[in-house]
Amino acid sequence: MKRIAFIGAGKMATALISCIYKNGASSSIIASDKNSKNLANIKKHLKIKTTNDNKEAVRNSDIVFICVKPQDIDNVLNEIKGVIKNQLVVSVAAGVRLKHLESKLKGKRVIRVMPNINCLVGEIAAGFSAGKFATKDNIDDVSKILSYGGISFQLKEELLDAVTAISGSGPAFFAYLIKAFAEAGVRNGLPKEIAVKLAAKTALGTGRLLMEKDISPEELIAMVASKKGTTAAGLEVLKKNKTKNILIKTINAAVKRSSELGK
Ligand SMILES: NC(=O)c1ccc[n+]([C@@H]2O[C@H](COP(=O)([O-])OP(=O)(O)OC[C@H]3O[C@@H](n4cnc5c(N)ncnc54)[C@H](OP(=O)(O)O)[C@@H]3O)[C@@H](O)[C@H]2O)c1
Repeated sequence: MKRIAFIGAGKMATALISCIYKNGASSSIIASDKNSKNLANIKKHLKIKTTNDNKEAVRNSDIVFICVKPQDIDNVLNEIKGVIKNQLVVSVAAGVRLKHLESKLKGKRVIRVMPNINCLVGEIAAGFSAGKFATKDNIDDVSKILSYGGISFQLKEELLDAVTAISGSGPAFFAYLIKAFAEAGVRNGLPKEIAVKLAAKTALGTGRLLMEKDISPEELIAMVASKKGTTAAGLEVLKKNKTKNILIKTINAAVKRSSELGK
């Protein structure tokens, strides 16, 4: 197993580390963060090495995941560029382009990944793009790490803004829908806790049906909706209120923001 360093040990790093950890590779992970509280928190749940020294983490690794906010990434790159030798640098920062990463880390191997928080439960849906110095082995390593937690696709970099919107931000959008379903359940008499669980489990099962039975969303709708039935009544409201347009606008707004972050 390759030695993996995480710079920034917040939410996304914790989710990625949990995935790798569950696959039995804990001894090869080190997390570095300037925030000791985050390190203590991660150590409580996962038995990995931690440090406050980004350079030390980089020196003792083969792959460096940079998991800080986009606005903090230049600080990290400036700090570690002197100690990067043959390590692969993997950035998960939304909107930060390969061109920018490569201009800071001249001639180094870089891959840009857009993961999502769902890898906390082994259900990542990710896209990634390789920089011009990344090798086939580097790409295979990243694919393997991401496959521990679900699915990933190597894509042209210009498509990562769409992945950011659908996969990166997607869990929040689906949670918003689940919250709305649950609120409706409560208004119709269900206890809140039960309504949230019913809505969440229904979302989970719907995703699994589409993935595991290889059926399209249209086919699934047809399987559930019978003429003049309850589903048909609900679908009519969705259509009348142009809900699909609202959801497309939601994704488009996130795509636009991701593209702006990269400028
Ligand atoms: N969260 C998601 O669902 C998600 C999904 C896809 C992609 N991402 C990407 O993942 C990245 C991290 O997001 P996050 O949600 O995990 O953020 P986060 O929870 O705020 O974690 C970032 C961590 O990095 C630390 N940090 C900042 N500057 C540092 C430095 N110079 N050296 C070492 N550590 C430093 C922060 O410390 P302080 O708190 O003290 O600043 C914080 O602990 C972002 O670029 C985001 O675009 C996130």
